[in-house]
This record gives sequence, structure tokens and C-alpha cells, in this order.
Amino acid sequence: MPRSQEEIRKDINYDESKVPAFELPSPLERPDGGRVTTAYEWVNRRRGEVLDFYKKEVYGQLPPRPDKIRFETLSVRDDALDNTAIRKEIRIHLEMNGAGSHSFVMLLYIPKNAKLPPPVFLGLNFKGNHATTDETDVMMTGRNIAGELVEPEGHAVQVHRWQFRETIRRGYASATACYHDIYPDFCSEEGWHRCVYGLFYPEEPAESIHKHASSISAWAWGLSRMLDCLENEPSVDASKAVVHGHSRLGKTALWAGATDPRFRLVISNDSGCGGAALFKRCFGENLEAILALAPYWFVSGLQRYINNEAALPFDQHWLISLIAPRPVCIASATEDLWADPKGEFLSGVYASEVYRLFGAEGLGTDAMPPPDQPVTGEISYHLRTGKHDQTRGDWLHYWDLAGKLFGR
Ligand code: GCU
Repeated sequence: MPRSQEEIRKDINYDESKVPAFELPSPLERPDGGRVTTAYEWVNRRRGEVLDFYKKEVYGQLPPRPDKIRFETLSVRDDALDNTAIRKEIRIHLEMNGAGSHSFVMLLYIPKNAKLPPPVFLGLNFKGNHATTDETDVMMTGRNIAGELVEPEGHAVQVHRWQFRETIRRGYASATACYHDIYPDFCSEEGWHRCVYGLFYPEEPAESIHKHASSISAWAWGLSRMLDCLENEPSVDASKAVVHGHSRLGKTALWAGATDPRFRLVISNDSGCGGAALFKRCFGENLEAILALAPYWFVSGLQRYINNEAALPFDQHWLISLIAPRPVCIASATEDLWADPKGEFLSGVYASEVYRLFGAEGLGTDAMPPPDQPVTGEISYHLRTGKHDQTRGDWLHYWDLAGKLFGR
């Protein structure tokens, strides 16, 4: 009998001295007992094995591109954000021959008068496109499986997480869509057919889909379709794309970065358990807690490791390794112990050996930095003072990283 969330929460460990001793398998260890020693071998063999492992055991398969993708421009304003930006709303239509269609709306801001097409940040939002901006004529998006708006009163409630004005001022474009419109979160069994998976597995029972798919894979797949759309948009440089996400969407950003190498910089903010944090530390949220909250975020097979993290044949530093040698940013917050900042930092430390194969350093230190003093290697880590959130303080670091990467 599974325990209730209240019961599980009572036993959550926040005491560093109670973190169990654990051994971390190296992503460089091959199944035959040998060890990967070259970037060549990592890229051409081992990385594929690790990626397949993650698809099977953690987040599931990503569907292919649909038979048809169409981009329908719904609106354009050339005086957005106090006349500093061009704003577009684009409906991304995904169509499968004989299995219907699904669509969602992407909001895109592009700096006005940019000399060259700019790099672009993209990420999913929690509460609808209208929640990310203070422009009240932006379409309300984000619907549950009944087709109702999840946050009808949500105008501008998460503007601070998006920082569009400053992003535009610094010369970047920024795009977002609501994650519910790809896979409605908290939607139970029925959700599997009322989301993008309905296009690919229309006849398959939900329980069976859950064995090889998850909402995190659906959301990551949606980010890749947004990037397809941006590749079609001459006013942005989609070859310079930065994917970012907060919390469950930070987990998603990491998985999108792992599965789609077009993302040049990957940012996970407070992604915690099932994101950057190491499962085996069992500090803050653990497998039992996360799978009780949202089993469908992961494939159903992950449940066999509940209260048995020690038996996991991998840990989340493998996920970070899949992004190598591209830069990745792991961001935590001091008061966000549920997400285990130290566990998030350590996955960066342990993924660094894969970066070193490429002549890079990775994180470049194994000493956790004090709050608000980011470490900036190819793997960067910062611990912001404050709560579980995505704030201007986080963005200051992201802009800095994008500036270094794209020479701006
Ligand atoms: C819950 C969940 C976390 C998740 C977070 C969020 O707190 O336990 O794993 O990251 O929600 O997405 O906000």
C-alpha cells in the first residue's frame, strides 16, 4: 500500500549527517567492465548507451517529429514592451496522418532593430503565456484536459520569472509556451491520450504508454518543436538557442538538452529530485515523494527503486554528462532544501570527468561555492540566496553565461 504524501514528508531527511554512504557509478564505465578514455568513444558509443538507458529507465522515449508541422502566426506587434520589441504569437500545429492533430501557442519577443538575428532563450511556463508578461493583450494559454484555462486570473503573475524587458535590452530574443498545452500536468490516466501522445499512441492503453513515456519527455519534445519553429523564423538565430526551466521544468530543460543537441546552453533552475540532484543522497525530496506526487513525470519502471536508491545503477550526473561538452548551468537556492542544493552541485562535480574527455574542465572545483558567488566553467553552478523560484538574480547569471558563450 503506497504511503500518503503527508506520511512520506514526515520522513524526509534534511540532516547532512544522515545522508547514507553511497557509491556513484561512473558514466564512463562500460557495461563490459572497461572504461571510456576518449571523447571519440564517448560520442560514438557510450553516450548513446547512456541516452538509451535514460529513455528506458527514467524519462521514456521521445516521440519522433510528427508527419507535419505547421506554424501559424496569430498576431504580430512591432511596438511591444514599450516599443523595444517585436512580439509574435505563433500556433505550432503538430499533425499525424490518420491520427489527428495537436497544437499549442508560442509567445516570442524579439529585440527591435537588432543588427543581426539574436540568440534566443526558450522555456516552458507554468501558468500560461499571459502569466509571463505584463502585456494584457497576450493570449491566455494553458489548458487542462477538459479544455479549461488553468490560470484564468493569471495575467502577469510570473513576470519576474521571465524578465523579458531586460532580456530584450541585452539583445536576446525569448520564447515561451505553457507546459499544460503539451501535456496537461496533474491529469491522471486520461492525460496520456489528451496530449501530444494522443498523436502517436492513440490506441495504446495508458498503463502501457506509461511504461515507455513520461510527461517530462513530452515537455522536452515540445521544447524541440518550439526550436523547429524558431529555425523557421529569420529574425532570430536559432543556432544560438538557450533552453531554461525552473523546478519540474528545470528537470525538463536538462532532458531537452540531453536529447536535442541543438540547445547550445542548458539551464536548470532549482530542478532538484529527478533533475540535477543526486538520488542516492536521499536528502530533501526522494523517489518515494516525487513518484507519489507525480508518477507520470517518469516512466513507471522507476517505481521499483522507491526506498532503494542505493540499487540505482546510475545517478543524475549521467544526465548532466549527456549534455557534454556543451555548457550547462545548475542553479540552486539557499532555502530550497527540498531540491537538495548540495546534491545538485555534486552532479556537476561528478559529470566533470566526461567534460574532461573533451579537454574542458567541467565544473573545475569540488568545493561548493558560498551563496551568490557563481562558479563558471563549462558546467556552472550558482546558489542564489532565497527561496525556490526563478528570479532576476538567476537571470543575471544566465545572461552572463549566454554573453560568454555567444561573445556578446
Ligand atoms: C514539487 C516537486 C518538485 C518539483 C516542484 C515544482 O515541489 O516535489 O520535484 O520540482 O514541485 O516543479 O515546482
